[in-house]
Amino acid sequence: MSEPRFLITTPLPEPAYALLSAQGTVDVWEHEHSSGELAEAAASGRYSVILSQLTDRLGAAELADAKIDGIANYAVGFDNIDIAAATSAGIMVGNTPGVLTAPTADIAMLLILATARRCIEADTYTRAGLFEGWKPSLLLGSDVSGATLGLIGSGRIAAATARRAAGFDMVIQHCSVRGPHDRVAPGESELELGQRVSFDELIETSDFVSVHVPLAENTYHLVNAAVLSRMKRSAILVNTARGPVVDEAALVAALKSGEIAAAGLDVYENEPRLASGLVELANSVLLPHVGSATVSVRSKMAELCALNAIAMSRREIPPHPVNPQAWHS
Ligand code: DGY
Repeated sequence: MSEPRFLITTPLPEPAYALLSAQGTVDVWEHEHSSGELAEAAASGRYSVILSQLTDRLGAAELADAKIDGIANYAVGFDNIDIAAATSAGIMVGNTPGVLTAPTADIAMLLILATARRCIEADTYTRAGLFEGWKPSLLLGSDVSGATLGLIGSGRIAAATARRAAGFDMVIQHCSVRGPHDRVAPGESELELGQRVSFDELIETSDFVSVHVPLAENTYHLVNAAVLSRMKRSAILVNTARGPVVDEAALVAALKSGEIAAAGLDVYENEPRLASGLVELANSVLLPHVGSATVSVRSKMAELCALNAIAMSRREIPPHPVNPQAWHS
């Protein structure tokens, strides 16, 4: 059997290169690339597995002539890949679940605290030299302790966020929104804390609504203008999942009109672009998609991604397959 050739579309932390180069040849793209270039590489017959990023679009068009065994996505999310197209082309897809659960939940908690306690506004105020001493009414925020946190989704990251929120004495409720690739059986949840409620009850009664569902057809614009209008006027929306789950233009309108109080976002509908008007809003805290951005986690993701790729290059089911049926269909 000839040795496999891997394509890494964007340089990854170690041990990705070390693991892959011990098994075969590794090409690493260091340049910005188009989806056309990616499609050409996939169709070239040179590569056994492509190690892709969530910014690499691998839709039906890009996969139409692909001659690869697998795609190892450097992310837990895989909405950048058309899984149905990959499956029917016999391409296995792998992802990197688990290792980024804790840091992403940390960022959700950070956004809850930062929005409620107006952390960025307060920091900007202090740096601007405006702090003239303690005042009873200076930069008043809203309570976290005792507030109700509504988690949209009940998977691993929602569960880890619930555990953190419990430590802040928050009251937790959650609802399930099932996606097409969910492994947890209907009725099951990884969430042991809090109360399961309907989506409608959750959005109408929560002080904080935090989004923890993957992007899929049924979650696109799940939080839209109608949903925002039913949230409490004092409510805060947090999104660490995927931008398009929230209608960002509708969110800007709701934040401007005071329909909801604030938003803490790590993800955006059209990354890296932000919806018009969002940047100007003091009641938004905006992070650049850094949920998993710690040195050790990015390295663990690189390891999982490489292990997925190596297994796929041997036509073995990888440690974290998204569509294990790809090679049997
Ligand atoms: C993911 O893995 O899907 C995150 O969004 C980036 O780490």
